[in-house]
Amino acid sequence: MWWPLLLAYLLAAVVLIYSYVQWTRRKMYAMLASMSSPKTLPVIGHAYKFFNVSPEALAKTIRYFRRFPSPVCLHMGPLPHVVVFDPESIQVVLNSQHCLQKPHQYSFLWIPRTLMCAPVHMWKTQRKAFNPAFGPAILGSFVPVFNEKCAILMEILEQHVGKPQRDFTRDILKCTLDQIYVTAFECEFNMQLSPDGDKSMDLFESYVGFVTKRFFSVWKYPDFIYRWTKAYRKQMLCCTTYFNEVLEKIVRHVDIDRRVNDLCGEQSVEKYHNFVYCLSKYLQAQGPIPREDILAHFGFMIFAGNETTAKTINAVLLMLAMHPEIQERCFLEVAAVCPIENQYISAEDVSNLTYLEMVCKETMRLFPVAAMLARVATSDVKLNDRQTIPANTRIIIGTYQIHRDPKIWGPNSNRFDPDHFLPDNVAKRHPYSYIPFSGGPRNCLGPRFAWLSMKTIIAFILRQYRLNTSLKFDQLKVAYGVLLTIANGCPMTIEKR
Ligand code: HEM
Repeated sequence: MWWPLLLAYLLAAVVLIYSYVQWTRRKMYAMLASMSSPKTLPVIGHAYKFFNVSPEALAKTIRYFRRFPSPVCLHMGPLPHVVVFDPESIQVVLNSQHCLQKPHQYSFLWIPRTLMCAPVHMWKTQRKAFNPAFGPAILGSFVPVFNEKCAILMEILEQHVGKPQRDFTRDILKCTLDQIYVTAFECEFNMQLSPDGDKSMDLFESYVGFVTKRFFSVWKYPDFIYRWTKAYRKQMLCCTTYFNEVLEKIVRHVDIDRRVNDLCGEQSVEKYHNFVYCLSKYLQAQGPIPREDILAHFGFMIFAGNETTAKTINAVLLMLAMHPEIQERCFLEVAAVCPIENQYISAEDVSNLTYLEMVCKETMRLFPVAAMLARVATSDVKLNDRQTIPANTRIIIGTYQIHRDPKIWGPNSNRFDPDHFLPDNVAKRHPYSYIPFSGGPRNCLGPRFAWLSMKTIIAFILRQYRLNTSLKFDQLKVAYGVLLTIANGCPMTIEKR
């Protein structure tokens, strides 16, 4: 009988390879040993906690991990992950030159060479190229567009006065989409009034759905496995349709090739540059790049600028509907700063809405759309005198956890209290206790844009309408996904003031 001998050889080979791998990784394991770690299983490590979990179950798993002090080490099979949710470690990670790379999971978005996912060398060039498109210099020129799009939103909301509870997410999404289309792409497509608005949103929702499902199915992580699934084929169909029917239309309208050609030899005399200008400049400098990459740049900007802002606005409106006294205080502030219905709201007015800003900040604390961020350590990263994250470790930054940490926000950290953002309270906290827009060099590019858009839309709504909801704060559940959502939705009624 030859096979027992073969089996013995095979087993010996496996043991030898395993021991060798463990030996080469001994330095890494020694570093990780200084961190807390929940109970683990042989070979698969902590991955069993993440097999096919629903978004709600993930929230429970995350609550479980929170019992351990940050940083926490998790092993997903052979891959170590370090989860940080204390401000000091977060500050180190977000500002380290060795933590700029994004992990494999970002590739599920299928926009590999865009700002969000690009490898570090490419990201650096793109970041420099696109930075001026959302900087303070150009922002003032966006204000009339924001106002115009808000006026259309008011007409749409008017139709729902006195009607039963309804989720206004789509209406807000279309308004922010119109704002991005005009300010960043110079496309006046009027999504709020066109049936194309809903079509584009349906496609986008299904795409986000596929990406979210893959996030929660660890076995679908390897590309070679995912390619064989039904979900892959559906995601492919959805993306192809979105690229061909939505993004192609934008790119044709923008006439990007002509713009790139026109730039040759031209010295710009314009003071401000919007996104299409910056992108054309970038494309001109790069030489020919695949058409799908150009489309992806547009797709990513829509995702980054539209979904995030609209989801946050909806959450703020829900918080206001749930807390009538806070809503009244915001209304009085708006009424004092820009009292006349449909009156133009200037950038200066927006900066005077300080209490509304506290309310938005508190909402983003409890419901940060980017509930966790992820990076890869490309070199050893020293967190403090005791702990170092070894090279090649995936790092997860727990925004949601730190935003609700009672050690930072007090015993009522899960309650809604805009006073958390009174200047004195802010001054007492570590600056990295609050990171809704991330932080460090790879932070969000659009906070100024987002603030202007959010406060203008909310001020327009509050000036004209009173919001109510039957939902109670204690009933709220969050669902993790590509973006964090309030699982209950945001049902509200509106009445005229
Ligand atoms: C409330 C609204 C917003 C929130 C909460 C938000 C949050 C974030 C966060 C947390 C990141 C980092 C993601 C990561 O590292 O995985 C990010 C990245 C980014 N955001 Fe925003 N964002 C918002 C609005 C906007 C807007 C309006 C724009 C542009 C118009 C924008 C453009 C970007 C871009 C381009 C990146 C990628 C930056 C890079 O990797 O260099 N965001 N955003």
